[in-house]
Amino acid sequence: MISMKNKSLVSIDDYTREEQLKILDLAEGFEKKPVQDILKGFVVATLFFEPSTRTRLSFESAASRLGAQVIGFSEASTSSVSKGESLNDTILTVSKYADIIVMRHPREGSARYASEVSPVPVINAGDGANQHPTQTLLDMYSIRKTQGTLNNLQVAFVGDLKYGRTVHSLTFALCNFNATFHLVSPEDLKLPSYVKQKIKDNKLEYYQYTDMNEVIPKADILYMTRIQKERFSDPIEYERVKNAYILRNEMLQDAKNTMRVLHPLPRVNEIETDVDHNAKAYYFDQAQNGVYVRQALLASILGVI
Ligand code: CP
Repeated sequence: MISMKNKSLVSIDDYTREEQLKILDLAEGFEKKPVQDILKGFVVATLFFEPSTRTRLSFESAASRLGAQVIGFSEASTSSVSKGESLNDTILTVSKYADIIVMRHPREGSARYASEVSPVPVINAGDGANQHPTQTLLDMYSIRKTQGTLNNLQVAFVGDLKYGRTVHSLTFALCNFNATFHLVSPEDLKLPSYVKQKIKDNKLEYYQYTDMNEVIPKADILYMTRIQKERFSDPIEYERVKNAYILRNEMLQDAKNTMRVLHPLPRVNEIETDVDHNAKAYYFDQAQNGVYVRQALLASILGVI
């Protein structure tokens, strides 16, 4: 019997392959029946020290549709952190008001630290350039739903593979499913060595490119990412790479029929809006899947299913 009750989710590897698949299976049930009263009486805290649209609002939508109350803040400036309160004190205080904490923070490792000091479970909603494990679960859900399987897929990541935390987490997860990785990025934004080492440790293959056109015909999943402007210390460096990859509708002509374009969003200019009407575009459905996956996570960690 698999149980995630009280189990924090900081890195995607905190959950086993079987636990990840259990979340996806439960999410299918929530997609069929998204409004239920199973979290009535629970309080979910969403602490966002960095901007968010999808992650925060889909967590809040997920909690609300299951009958939970939501408290929290969407920017550090409206909390007592702006008066100098430490993360330790913030977490210990919020844990007195909520049954679970969902936290996004710009510092890598902050979510792990919060999970270690918190008496209630913590879900990492993104910590710097490190990890975004709930995005990974919704990406896995989207991949399984569109491809019918998670196994043996050709997965192309395009864009900012250095700072893109969603790519790091998803690579870790897909190492359990025999993926082949096609990595398209500017020279200075390649996938970090520790993530590539994980692929090697799993005896899987990765290939690096600078030209996106090379990977489009091969891919089952074309996972576009935004160049993460906020992580660059030198604005000139950002200006140099900001238009490196722009997907246009005509570029998808030689793609497999079953291929789908994913993007964690927000997009800036890396997918032209004419792609939105192509049947291969899946990124807004992907964002919707986030509600069901986050319902499955909240219900599992709070121990009601
Ligand atoms: N995908 C994602 O994390 O989007 P937000 O930054 O809007 O939450």
